Amino acid sequence: SVFLAFSVWKFRDELLSGIGVTLLISASAVILGSTIGLFVVIMHMSKKKAVNAIATTYVEILRGTPLIVQLEFVYFAVPIILQTIIAWFGKTVDINIPAITSGIIAVAINSSAYVSEAIRAGFNSVDSGQTEAARSLGLPNKVSLRYVIIPQALKNIWPALGNEFVALIKESSIVLIIGAPDIMYQINNLRAVTFSAVEPLTLSAVIYFALTYSLTRAMKHFEKRMQHD
Ligand code: ARG
Repeated sequence: SVFLAFSVWKFRDELLSGIGVTLLISASAVILGSTIGLFVVIMHMSKKKAVNAIATTYVEILRGTPLIVQLEFVYFAVPIILQTIIAWFGKTVDINIPAITSGIIAVAINSSAYVSEAIRAGFNSVDSGQTEAARSLGLPNKVSLRYVIIPQALKNIWPALGNEFVALIKESSIVLIIGAPDIMYQINNLRAVTFSAVEPLTLSAVIYFALTYSLTRAMKHFEKRMQHD
């Protein structure tokens, strides 16, 4: 109806800022998550059993528990744990992690577990004959890793990171539960003020699809260009 179209139009700033928050959380989380994920992979390659076990446990726990639990843990539980620890030292403080910050931290940590597996898979997909060939040419281990193995592994890892970004755009919608004003949070407000469900929810689907579809297309474009070199 005209009233509904008008309400949506009046809501455009909120929707735009919701898109901004969703992109901020998922982009920050994929960058932070990949960085943490890389460290997890390095720990996983360690010959020390204990280091290896820490990396494995980290990945198992994060992939074996729901993102919503991890998110609420960061937002509601971590501040209390920190306050308790600080109280042992005789100080009373009030710790609050803002919703968007909590969202970035939780989604990044969750993502790091998935990304570390993607990086590992990327390395494993490089044929072992490549290492053997490089080594038999007399290349030192470091050189063969840097110039033979890593470039080939990256061809598999980049698309996986792109897919992870797309996944996070959708999965990050769970941050509305702690009050981070992302797309879904704003859509729920729109649903409340308009007393309508069909149009706001359809609009959210359209927004999410436009984001993921254009990102997927952009990735395909870059992947094609990477095949040439
Ligand atoms: N929704 C699932 C969960 O609650 C999947 C999370 C996906 N995470 C990711 N980084 N791809 O755990």
